[in-house]
Amino acid sequence: MEYMDLSNKVALITGAARGIGAASAEILSAHGASVVVADINIELAQSFAEELNKKGRQATAVKVDVSNAESIEQMVKFTLDKYKVIDILVNNAGILDNDKLPQIKLENWERVMKINLTGAYLCTKMVIDEMIKNNKGGKIVNMSSMSGKNGGPRIGIDYAASKAGVISITKSFAYYGAPYGITVNSLCPGFIATDMTTGLFDPEIVPMKRFGTPEDVAKVVYFLSSSLSDYVTGTAVDVNGGLLMS
Ligand code: NAI
Repeated sequence: MEYMDLSNKVALITGAARGIGAASAEILSAHGASVVVADINIELAQSFAEELNKKGRQATAVKVDVSNAESIEQMVKFTLDKYKVIDILVNNAGILDNDKLPQIKLENWERVMKINLTGAYLCTKMVIDEMIKNNKGGKIVNMSSMSGKNGGPRIGIDYAASKAGVISITKSFAYYGAPYGITVNSLCPGFIATDMTTGLFDPEIVPMKRFGTPEDVAKVVYFLSSSLSDYVTGTAVDVNGGLLMS
């Protein structure tokens, strides 16, 4: 279907060496996109990109630390040098710190903010300006979290605050990008079974009685990266098996 075809599109995905980012790279590349697998863990990113290439996909790995502006600049430059354009940006890199009140340490708060929120802000700012220059529209997907909407007892106060910030910058960038045909949306996953969450949660409290899979989230990343969502912008889409109601 033409709306779903990503041939000739270039997708830059941060934190794509494993988990939700890797599942997103998998689905976007399966539908024709050339994917740049950007991650701080370059060995894992490279072996994953090779795996995709063996399946006949177009994938390249690049090292990035999204807590470092210079490193983000290099990632963007690497992608533009190789492909000339960036059509899709998925800001997925993130860390979980589960510090709860009252013990939370300031250094943890600052680290989580720098990676989860400042990192997403800097990547979006650099890429959206390129998209505007390129004048071909674009798609930006930011990985927030259910905790960004409801804070809550189950997750660190710093993590939830950083993800609330992601929902907010999504709306600001959506407004900024709208006249140029650039959509900017965020995703709010519930409990997704990845290395980040191993052993942390009980699937019994999820109305669907199971954890989400990285693919459950990646399918929505695909929707927000394709023409199916051309008039959808500034949203924060829930992907949680009904957890919000429990
Ligand atoms: P994960 O820990 O499996 O993957 C995160 C990836 O980000 C790793 O490959 C890691 O190397 C990379 N990364 C970490 N710090 C980085 C940095 N400074 N620069 C570049 N890359 C870095 O985690 P998962 O579960 O796949 O999470 C992906 C995103 O989804 C995160 O933003 C997370 O907060 C969000 N999320 C996850 C949920 C879950 O239940 N797993 C729920 C809601 C949101």
